[in-house]
Amino acid sequence: MTSVSKLFGEAEIARRVEDLAAEIAAEISGDFVIVGLLKGSFVFLADLVRALDRTGLAPRIEFMRVASYGLGKESSGKVDLVGDILDDVGGRRVLLVDDIVDTGRSLLFARDLLKDKGAARIWTCVLLDKPSRREVDCTADFVGFVIEDVFVVGYGIDYAEGYRHLPYIGVVD
Ligand code: IMP
Ligand code: MG
Repeated sequence: MTSVSKLFGEAEIARRVEDLAAEIAAEISGDFVIVGLLKGSFVFLADLVRALDRTGLAPRIEFMRVASYGLGKESSGKVDLVGDILDDVGGRRVLLVDDIVDTGRSLLFARDLLKDKGAARIWTCVLLDKPSRREVDCTADFVGFVIEDVFVVGYGIDYAEGYRHLPYIGVVD
């Protein structure tokens, strides 16, 4: 049986997301588009956009779906675009949002794609950063929590498609 031990509780996540929105608002003003990476970022993004609204920001919201993981805990090392954004980001400023930056391949892949589409400026934001796992040169502009090399689930993040529904973030033992 897999067991999950709590790493960040609901209240702690909510406080951090609120602060993260303030950090973003201090740097980005005016029109911009948020591009969330599915599926992992959906819960984080839902909370983040409402926290951004409280700072007075009104971003448009798009999603892109990329896949790098199979059903296990190890990334395949190859990133595929599974679903593209429909909106035109040419000439627009974009905040790319993901759940975790691990090897960095997914975020780099998505950022390059947005660059190719002609985005005027791209910032990146992740809830969790595992710097010890990085394999490519990729640093997120806004980071919720820096964590060790542990496999986490919950708050949108899965293990073999399970656990996304958990309201907290836990470590799978
Ligand atoms: P990267 O391309 O290796 O940086 O991986 C990024 C993606 O891998 C994230 O968006 C997650 O979906 C997934 N991932 C990385 N670490 C974990 C984890 O600890 N638990 C679940 N998914 C993870
Ligand atoms: Mg993901």
